[in-house]
Amino acid sequence: MPADDPPMTAVRRYAPIAAGLLVAVLLLTAGSMLWMSQQPDDGASALGAPIGGPFSLTAGDGSRVTQASWPGKYLLVYFGYTFCPDVCPTTLTDVVSALDKLGSRAARIQPVFITVDPKRDTPEVVRQYVAAFSPRLAGLTGTPDEIAQVAREYRVYFAVHKTGPGPDDYTMDHSSILYLMAPDGKFVAVIRADTPDATAAEIAKRLPQS
Ligand code: NI
Repeated sequence: MPADDPPMTAVRRYAPIAAGLLVAVLLLTAGSMLWMSQQPDDGASALGAPIGGPFSLTAGDGSRVTQASWPGKYLLVYFGYTFCPDVCPTTLTDVVSALDKLGSRAARIQPVFITVDPKRDTPEVVRQYVAAFSPRLAGLTGTPDEIAQVAREYRVYFAVHKTGPGPDDYTMDHSSILYLMAPDGKFVAVIRADTPDATAAEIAKRLPQS
């Protein structure tokens, strides 16, 4: 048997270092988790910016709307686009049904649809689109820069997906996430759009009991 098998030597030499590094990583992780647990519940991960933020967008009637336009309300924010063939209509239908199921408690909530396709989704297009789901659903659009900024704040991914040679031959890839935001603008939770009953229950448990 060789006295000094190189791979084994390497293991003997580096294993303690690796173990030490692992311990250091675990300590750092535990430390940051402790740090996070001591932070106020601002919806932020300790390592990144909070989800959400101020925005200024255009409503269906052409008026400017910000995150503070519905005082005292929770915002249920969803990003999509009106030409979306499947996910957006399914999610918005679920949201509207869930709010119906919440009855009077839904008065605490303002559902907001923000388009990621401002080129085609003019205020009027968005207005007609959301009205088809529910009169209580707000539809917002903006300049490409405004949309890019609010999407960044909410960490929403979106991208043009070309489907043909024409300028309007495209769909939008986009993340489909429902964000519940507190009246003070802080992130509360991601709400799964599942069945209306499940979605309603998920929202209800996040609302103050009163
Ligand atoms: Ni969609």
